[in-house]
Amino acid sequence: MPDIGSTGWRVSVDPTSPILILDTGVGGLTVLGELRKLLPEAPVIFAADQAGLPYGEKTEAEVAARVAGLLGRMSERYRPRLACIACNTASTIALDMVRDVLEIPVVGTVPAIKPAAAMTKTGVIGLLGTKGTIRQPYVDRLEAKFAEGKTLLRHGAPELVDPAEAKLRGRPVDPAPIRAAVQALRGMPRGDEIDTVVLACTHFPLLHEELAAEFGPGVTLIDGSQGIARRIASLLEGQKLERREPDFAVTTGPLDDFKKLAPALAEYGLERLVRF
Ligand code: DGL
Repeated sequence: MPDIGSTGWRVSVDPTSPILILDTGVGGLTVLGELRKLLPEAPVIFAADQAGLPYGEKTEAEVAARVAGLLGRMSERYRPRLACIACNTASTIALDMVRDVLEIPVVGTVPAIKPAAAMTKTGVIGLLGTKGTIRQPYVDRLEAKFAEGKTLLRHGAPELVDPAEAKLRGRPVDPAPIRAAVQALRGMPRGDEIDTVVLACTHFPLLHEELAAEFGPGVTLIDGSQGIARRIASLLEGQKLERREPDFAVTTGPLDDFKKLAPALAEYGLERLVRF
């Protein structure tokens, strides 16, 4: 029985066609972890644009061109059934543009302001993202739509990306940038009232434990990974999923550095690491 694609046309999807997940690095794993819980049998290619890291320090034009170009080339090579941009920076900048270019459904990752606004009791929400993400009009629109009457305090914390990358390479996590990011939010007007923090960079949930300890009790950290996994699962409803070979990870960066992530990637079912 063929599936009905997002365009409404009847399209038949190859059961072995993968889901392509793209981030600059290990941040995409937070989305993959949630996806595995919902669709354990789904074939996945995990793409890390390590040569492009960090997106959060690039201009909008650079990020848009890079992500659209890379996803276009990867789609030609791997023929995915769906692409997920597991990066808040790239999604808030380039989601619409990528959707115009690719012929498959594209799921983005945007700051979880809506659930945070529903959850906060004090009405003061913190948002930690990259500098690229926190200045996006996309975030302004989410705030206006879902957090009306609340206070959203944004802080760009690019210095949290490296500790997340280090942690998954088995290296110790430097507590200084974590403390600095938390203090920056706490130091803003009404920062002491924050009870909910949106982790608006897919790297940051990898530091959940460290950030939670630094914020202390009474603060809930939330991110969008569960919602994104649910969205992917609903778009693929009714499609056959068949993993014919072990899932693999590709990097645009040097393979020897990527191989330091092998034990962490294996925990997410990514058994082979290759260079794109
Ligand atoms: N993981 C990316 C995000 O969600 C940020 C990392 C980077 O700056 O490349 O925004």
